[in-house]
Amino acid sequence: ADPEPIQDFCVAVPHAGAEASPAYPGFPCKPASTVVSDDFFFAGLAGAGSTDNRFGFNVTAGNVEAFPGLPPASTVVSDDFFFAGLAGAGSTDNPFGSSVKPGNVEAFPGLNTLGVAINRVDLAPGGVNPLHSHPRAAELVHAITGQMLVGFVSTAGKYYSKVLGEGETFVIPRGLMHFQYNPGNVSARAMTVFNSQLPGVVVAAPALFGADPDIPDAVLAKSFQVDAEIIKLLKSKFKK
Ligand code: GLV
Ligand code: MN
Repeated sequence: ADPEPIQDFCVAVPHAGAEASPAYPGFPCKPASTVVSDDFFFAGLAGAGSTDNRFGFNVTAGNVEAFPGLPPASTVVSDDFFFAGLAGAGSTDNPFGSSVKPGNVEAFPGLNTLGVAINRVDLAPGGVNPLHSHPRAAELVHAITGQMLVGFVSTAGKYYSKVLGEGETFVIPRGLMHFQYNPGNVSARAMTVFNSQLPGVVVAAPALFGADPDIPDAVLAKSFQVDAEIIKLLKSKFKK
């Protein structure tokens, strides 16, 4: 589905110079100060199209291509629809024993407006892709090699989980906190697929203990019902 509007309008920049910037979700907007009444006006359906054809019919389109126009498609090539960035494993030589390579619209501009994205997750034995959530997408986790414990927590506080073997798939509903963990003794790999070109990610520990500027110790200590010392320890691990 197309995204819900997030502002009153976004009049697409007309043909001239309308190179879509890679990270932009959709076509670039004209600056609001340059938007005029004519941007909301389209005369292209005023006259009948010719029905003098063997079907005896005509459809004239008033979609965004006609009104007010897309950037020229003439510069688009096959490689715009191709992405090799997930071909190799990322390094899992880090304290989490994990690597997530993103295949979202920022990495793969051809996804723009298509509503999908893909990541590659590699886990060393005992490695974890730490607790996180995606504000804009559900996630399919498809295990390719090894074993993967996948779990999420619902808004009712219920924990749902499964150990995936090769070729098995789990789904994580949009916005819910989840992780992947490798309980085996060989490395594990999964591809994760999202119904957003830019799912967004909130990683729990750095969001809470590594925020910039800091969330006050008093807020965190009271929220977690622990001493400020424990909060300071956690902050020392997640402050950049
Ligand atoms: C895994 O949870 C991912 O977000 O790729
Ligand atoms: Mn995820």
